[in-house]
Amino acid sequence: MSQDAAKKAAAEAALKYVEPGEILGVGTGSTVNYFIDALAKMKHDIPGAASSSEASSARLKAVGIPVLDLNSVGSLSIYVDGADEANHQLQLIKGGGAALTREKIVAAASRKFICIADESKLVKVLGKFPLPVEVIPMARSYVARELVKLGGMPSWRENVITDNGNVILDVAGLSITDAVKLETEIGLIAGVVTVGLFARRPADVLLLGSPAGVRELKAA
Ligand code: A5P
Repeated sequence: MSQDAAKKAAAEAALKYVEPGEILGVGTGSTVNYFIDALAKMKHDIPGAASSSEASSARLKAVGIPVLDLNSVGSLSIYVDGADEANHQLQLIKGGGAALTREKIVAAASRKFICIADESKLVKVLGKFPLPVEVIPMARSYVARELVKLGGMPSWRENVITDNGNVILDVAGLSITDAVKLETEIGLIAGVVTVGLFARRPADVLLLGSPAGVRELKAA
């Protein structure tokens, strides 16, 4: 089974969590694109979706699913999104697609977070995938120096501007054994908009596609 087939299998497995009549949150990335395609088949059962990126909004609209403003929908039933890395506590690194800020907002506004991925994303310790941090442009160098003090090796993702008009630093060299603490520490640096660690609010369910089928991990 290819990695794409594993992503597709995980995405389709998430359909069982979609509550008819309820607005849901939709994330960003190649795995979520498979989810949007699958969700199109039940578009008449849902009023619409809140989206975490301009790219996902365009894809939702293209398949005929209304995109709703998060400010006008209250809390969401579920949030479905991918990840760049996940550990067994269902803490995640996200932001490879630069959509981490809106992803964190929509996840926070949702009652249940369903993470979909292929099995290669599951790791023992987070940090091999460079941790994305969204930063206000004028703070880029200052934040980079502070991230070095925390033991990381930040690099500027050049030519990328987020949907919010900010820049991304990708922080390599971290072995993240206390993800909640690091999420808090990085979040407190002046100029940081969002750190791509989802540990204070981890996923509730992790659906991992593999040749053996889709494995379901749940928060303890
Ligand atoms: C987007 O900013 C990310 O958080 C994605 O969720 C993550 O990069 C996973 O992407 P894929 O589904 O393409 O692997």
